[in-house]
Amino acid sequence: MSETFEIIWDAADESDTVRLAETLAGWAAPGTVLALDGDLGAGKTRFSQAFAKGIGVPGVVNSPTFTIIKEYKGAQLPLYHMDVYRLSEPEADELGLDDYFFGDGVTIVEWASLIEALLPPDRLQMYLAHTGGETRRITITGIGEPYAAWCRQLQGMGAR
Ligand SMILES: Nc1ncnc2c1ncn2[C@@H]1O[C@H](COP(=O)(O)OP(=O)(O)O)[C@@H](O)[C@H]1O
Ligand SMILES: [Mg+2]
Repeated sequence: MSETFEIIWDAADESDTVRLAETLAGWAAPGTVLALDGDLGAGKTRFSQAFAKGIGVPGVVNSPTFTIIKEYKGAQLPLYHMDVYRLSEPEADELGLDDYFFGDGVTIVEWASLIEALLPPDRLQMYLAHTGGETRRITITGIGEPYAAWCRQLQGMGAR
C-alpha cells in the first residue's frame, strides 16, 4: 500500500484556491495526476485554470465538459485537462487514458471518482466543497510519493 496523507485547505475566497493551484503547479512534473471531485460550481475548473497559468499555459482554459479532454502546451509542461462527467467507466476505458496519466505532462481530471478504477494508484485527490459564498473546503489526499510529501508541505503553508 502506498503512503497516504490527508489535509484540509480552507479557502476563504477565490484567491486562496488560486494560491493552492499555483503552489501545486510549481511542484508538478511529467506524470503528475490531480483527481478532482466536488459539486458543480465548487471550483474544479477555476482551480484548473490557475494551475494551467502556473505551468505556463497561455490563453484561456475552459471547462472540457463537452470535449472530454483538452491538451495545452505549457511553457513548463503540457497539460491534459479532462472532464469525465459525461462518460461511463467503460467509455473512458476506450480512450486509453494511461497515455495521458503516464505521459509527458500533467493530467487534471474533473469528476475523477466516476472513473476511479481507471486512475493510476498514485495521485493527488482533491475534494472541493462549497461552504458558503466564496468559501471552499478543499480536502486533499496525497497517495504515494511525491503526493504525500506535497501534503506535508501544504501543512506548513496553513493547511490543517
Ligand atoms: N474560493 C473559490 N474557489 C474557487 N472558485 C470560486 C471560489 N469562490 C468563488 N468561486 C467561483 O465559483 C465558480 C466555480 O466554478 P467552476 O470552477 O466552473 O466549478 P466546477 O468546475 O467545480 O463546476 C467560479 O465562478 C468561481 O469564480
Ligand atoms: Mg468544471
